Amino acid sequence: MKILITNIKELIGVDDKARLLVKGADMANLNTIKNAYLLINGELIEDYGKMEDFSESKLGDVDAIQEIDASGRMVFPSFCDSHTHIVYAGSREIEYSDKIRGLSYEEIAKRGGGILNSAKLLHETSEAELYEQAMQRVHEIISQGTGAVEIKSGYGLNTEDELKMLRVIKKIKETSPLIVKSTFLGAHAFPAEYKEKPDEYVDLIINEMIPQVAAEELADFIDVFCDKGFFTVEQTDRILIAGIKYGMRPKIHANELAKSGGIQVGVKYDALSVDHIEYTEEEEIKALLNSETMPTILPGAAFFLNMPYSPAREMMKAGLPVAIASDYNPGSSPSGNMKLMMSFACVNYKMLPEEAIYASTINTAYAMGISDKVGSISKGKIANVFITSEIPTYQFFPYAYGSDLIDTVILRGIIL
Ligand code: NIG
Ligand code: FE
Repeated sequence: MKILITNIKELIGVDDKARLLVKGADMANLNTIKNAYLLINGELIEDYGKMEDFSESKLGDVDAIQEIDASGRMVFPSFCDSHTHIVYAGSREIEYSDKIRGLSYEEIAKRGGGILNSAKLLHETSEAELYEQAMQRVHEIISQGTGAVEIKSGYGLNTEDELKMLRVIKKIKETSPLIVKSTFLGAHAFPAEYKEKPDEYVDLIINEMIPQVAAEELADFIDVFCDKGFFTVEQTDRILIAGIKYGMRPKIHANELAKSGGIQVGVKYDALSVDHIEYTEEEEIKALLNSETMPTILPGAAFFLNMPYSPAREMMKAGLPVAIASDYNPGSSPSGNMKLMMSFACVNYKMLPEEAIYASTINTAYAMGISDKVGSISKGKIANVFITSEIPTYQFFPYAYGSDLIDTVILRGIIL
């Protein structure tokens, strides 16, 4: 089965060279083709080009073909969301009110709210129910244009519940059309009973959780919340060494609350990405410049918690790539809407629409280790794309920040 999309007003994110990431000044140069066609063969992108260069012979051998006339509409590569916590139980809008009344994220966490509150809810929820709740969010983000997602554990905080979360992520991998990567985040917070003996919790992660997670092959990556009031650089160091031993590449929650050293420890262990990074200055940028690590901003969390904004422009000026992910979670970013994240990135971080498009597609694909398969319109890549409704320009897409402009979603070559 082939799908032929014709008369595309503008085909966005075309990359003949299939670069694995886009950085620095290149992020402002978005490759597009006006009045284009796109040919999908099975799961993959087979061909694309200008309408005027299209002829029936391009279709090749074909038994069935479905044609979509995209007049007035654009085609984008699907969003890749490289940082989420979408497996969680219930919600935390009570803390939302507390925050509005003036309590900080750290104060809420200290009172047993925050991540520990989600851990309690998750403990009381069965694996089947957890899967049902998470799948509602999966369907929501698919309709919002996401085609690949990274999902973290981290609301279990004991071996059994961490495994429960990771098994739910595995089931999502097996049953949803999304491309899913899973991350073990046992080091998300200290359970109350370890408050006075945090290193014993670190021991539990290293000696019990990581070996069991690895034995069941439940995690692609390992994450630590390395920040003020959470895990220290020394503790992060130990956990990352243990995870790497089992083949889990690091992705770090770093410098959200302070200049915590999280970026440097991430770079030291060749993290795929360091995320949040609100507290980033020259020395952190320098560390990132000599690395393979993707700096990832989470504009939804910074918006929702009223945090300072990560210096995206300075990073790009220094020649770094920047990625944008949603951080979809019940505490600091209860939205996985990547189009909205793009709008936040443009307004709050002064990123150009072109930069925001690369940041939320190819660069987040890199931050999930899959940029050879998705993240751009390139021959041979997986056909994860969406067709917009009629829009005048691609800049209109992040500009109209409250409008749902996604009309048709195609994942792995299937029209959903
Ligand atoms: O990425 N910063 C740490 N963890 C999450 C928040 C999780 C929560 O509050 O439930 C984050 O923002
Ligand atoms: Fe997070």
